[in-house]
Amino acid sequence: MLDVLIDNTTAILVFLVTVVLGWYILTLPRMRNMPPGPLPLPVVGNYLMIARPGVSLLTLFPTLAARYGKIFTFLAGSTPIILINDAKLVKEAFIKNGNIISSRPQHYYVVKKISDRLGLGMTMSNGRQWKELRRVSVTAMRDMGAARTSMEGSIQEEVTELLKVIEKVKDAPVDLKPWLMKATSNIISTIVFGSRFDYEDLRFNLLLQRLAKATSVNIFFLAVNFLPLVRYFCKKEETFIKSLETINAHIKELLADREESFDPSNIRDFVDLALRKRMDDPKERHFQDLNMRRAIVDLYSAGSDTTATVLHWLLLFMADNPEIQARCQAEIDEVLGDVRMVRYADRVRLKFTDATVLEVLRLRPVAPFGIPRYVEENFDLGGYTIPRGSVCFPNILAINKDPELFAHPDRFDPTRWFGENGEVTGRDRIVSFSVGPRSCSGEAVARMELFMFFTSILQFYTVLPGVEGKPVDLTPVLGFLNKSRHQELVLKKR
Ligand code: HEM
Repeated sequence: MLDVLIDNTTAILVFLVTVVLGWYILTLPRMRNMPPGPLPLPVVGNYLMIARPGVSLLTLFPTLAARYGKIFTFLAGSTPIILINDAKLVKEAFIKNGNIISSRPQHYYVVKKISDRLGLGMTMSNGRQWKELRRVSVTAMRDMGAARTSMEGSIQEEVTELLKVIEKVKDAPVDLKPWLMKATSNIISTIVFGSRFDYEDLRFNLLLQRLAKATSVNIFFLAVNFLPLVRYFCKKEETFIKSLETINAHIKELLADREESFDPSNIRDFVDLALRKRMDDPKERHFQDLNMRRAIVDLYSAGSDTTATVLHWLLLFMADNPEIQARCQAEIDEVLGDVRMVRYADRVRLKFTDATVLEVLRLRPVAPFGIPRYVEENFDLGGYTIPRGSVCFPNILAINKDPELFAHPDRFDPTRWFGENGEVTGRDRIVSFSVGPRSCSGEAVARMELFMFFTSILQFYTVLPGVEGKPVDLTPVLGFLNKSRHQELVLKKR
């Protein structure tokens, strides 16, 4: 009996040692001359570091950046994930080597599963599919929307609607985040469907609820992507994909209304542009139903919550820094008074307000690690080899707080953006929208929204903490995104 036990234990030990040694023998040579990083464990790599309760990428990746310098490797299972923590290196990788690092990883288990069931869409697709959908959506942002008034006109219309809501809830504590979300989502509605939804519209509210649920899951770092065994035990990604399917069905309903009124001689928005492409070439698969719906979901999920969150951060920072808020308001009073509505061109004269928006974008980049990039060929970066098949993330959080670029990087100080002659300079020191051919395609719209919504709110209201004397909570929610916490604020009529 004892002999059998000893034999079995020895066999198990031999097996385990073989697995461990085999794993290191296969993996370590592949990692030669790759950026440094924490010592990986067999099979799981460094994955356990993020699987620990209470640990968030928001804290882990900047800590690893501080330990390993400008670039480091984090092994998720056996997939090398390269974090680039330096602005110059991100630009060298994403702009200079843009042709080999502008794809999205398709081997991510969840990405593949979603694409199989819901089409490829835009944000996670590659090649012609991506290029075509990106081109059409950028055209829609530039030329379409709101019966072809400019994007600025659409934002002014939405500002007016948001101010009406604020007027109703003014002077009392209120959680503004859901309203900011409705306002920024309506800018996407204008790009996609050519018009905004009423804030009380049931279908619109349902869409936002479903999107909020879907975007709360961090699909890029789910264990199922890297550890095949987990697929048998954990079905978290199924719940996520089901919620995307519901959104997809919802978009289908909204599209049905629009398809009826399609007139090829009167192109109004993204949907019309896509329908015309489909009409011109019925075989063109990039604009077929599934892909188009998926691209619409992509636009809502990339453009609504992101902008609303930064806007929320701006209001929280104002409640926390009354002297900075007062300086913005003094400038706004001088340039706009209380009669004229803000225009984007006003930022040239509203320098301090413009710098305040930049400073919050620096301190709270909502997508702190961007969206993963797949490396298609080996290339050299910072003296290391970045191997084909690895996945790169820009560590936007670390770059925006690089002490070599920003003295006292944790300090909230809009004046750091002023050059010698008082102009706002050096905007490209931060990479909150990422860089290169695959950077945020909605950057221009987002910057316009942030400036115009923020200025208009401060023009008529002063932002105060929800409870007098109680500091606002500026700590982000632990997770993959740099999300603000729901909390009440008071908007006091000026
Ligand atoms: C403050 C607001 C926003 C921030 C900080 C932000 C940031 C980002 C970042 C970091 C990426 C990843 C880019 C990369 O892979 O290098 C991205 C992608 C993207 N963003 Fe934004 N974004 C914002 C608002 C918007 C808006 C308003 C829209 C739409 C109107 C939008 C549409 C997109 C799309 C479609 C992508 C995927 C681009 C592609 O794969 O080609 N974003 N965004």
